[in-house]
Amino acid sequence: MNSTSAVTFWDGVYAARPAATEPRPNARLTETVTGLPPGDVLDLGCGEGGDALWLARQGWHVTAVDVSAVAVERLTALARAHGLDDRLTAERHDLPGSFPRGAFDLVSAHYLQTPLALDRATVLRKAAHALRPGGALLVVDHGSTAPWSWNQDPDVRYATPHEVAADLGLDPAAWTVERADAPRRTATGPDGRTAEVTDHVLIIRRARHVGRARRGDTPPPRTGGSEAEVLRGFLDYLRESVSVKVEGAPEPAVRTAAVPSGTHLLGLLGHLTSVERATFLGERVDDWSATFRAAPGDSVADVVARYRQAVAEANGVLDGCTDLSAPVPRPRSNGPAPSLRWALTHLIEETGRHAGHADILRELIDGATGR
Ligand SMILES: C[S@@+](CC[C@H](N)C(=O)[O-])C[C@H]1O[C@@H](n2cnc3c(N)ncnc32)[C@H](O)[C@@H]1O
Repeated sequence: MNSTSAVTFWDGVYAARPAATEPRPNARLTETVTGLPPGDVLDLGCGEGGDALWLARQGWHVTAVDVSAVAVERLTALARAHGLDDRLTAERHDLPGSFPRGAFDLVSAHYLQTPLALDRATVLRKAAHALRPGGALLVVDHGSTAPWSWNQDPDVRYATPHEVAADLGLDPAAWTVERADAPRRTATGPDGRTAEVTDHVLIIRRARHVGRARRGDTPPPRTGGSEAEVLRGFLDYLRESVSVKVEGAPEPAVRTAAVPSGTHLLGLLGHLTSVERATFLGERVDDWSATFRAAPGDSVADVVARYRQAVAEANGVLDGCTDLSAPVPRPRSNGPAPSLRWALTHLIEETGRHAGHADILRELIDGATGR
């Protein structure tokens, strides 16, 4: 089923109903979240927005996502009408092809079930990777068919919470199944009828620290005493530090912006590759902002290998230079050539700055720390 039919189907579902004025939150959400300190939450398949509005009222900053433009527009209007628009943003995304940016303390997916094709495992895997260390993914699915459900197929089999978790293939060192059960409750249908239903409840928590991800700190380098040896020694130290920080970082978080400016780990290393090439190898860069973007086909290993290659070539050029006051041997064509002293100092400053960004981004991704 293609994206257009998902939009058409769900827009049709919502357009056929009058806009809800006071949509109710789901019981499993309120029982799980009540009492938790508010943070950033992502609501996947928000529908009419009962969960999103309730979360915003509890003080959470909510990103609510749905494929239906009707649902998103209605929720946006409702948040404004209730004075919650500073804490609730509704976005249209056709998951998993399009996924919201950001890092979250909680991702909630309530009844993200549809008669149309949906690669839920990919959606929920992306959701698990979008969690901050210590954050939780709450997945609540129908475990039985209510009399008013669109799905009255007598042969329907609902995946168990453990099966849903297993499908995600998450690293057990970094994510733990905290709850996987099938509680029952009395539900009320749209026509006021009540019935006993089963929910499938899954909570997966992201580890605060991944034990093996803690590297020992590498001490500052013991360089020779000359100015060139000190500058080059510290530059190599920072280059290695930033490469190791990106190496082994998990997908898709390694290319997912974790801050509003859009910065991600792969982009940082791609940018530093261009800075090395421009400064020491004289290569021209026409669009500096493009150097922060990662091509979809580039793996982490490709980006790290390209950086290491640029560093090796730069060092090859620098090895032949003895006079720090002399201009860099391969200047760019635009503007006067800087001195080698200036170029090395600039690269130390540039690499150190981005290595610090990378430290923070990597810790947000999987809790890995150390330099
Ligand atoms: C069964 S409803 C649940 C709505 C809401 N979470 C609730 O508990 O009332 C499923 C929701 O998932 C949304 N949805 C279905 N496919 C989607 C997709 N590919 N991307 C984003 N949302 C989708 C639908 O528009 C619908 O609002």
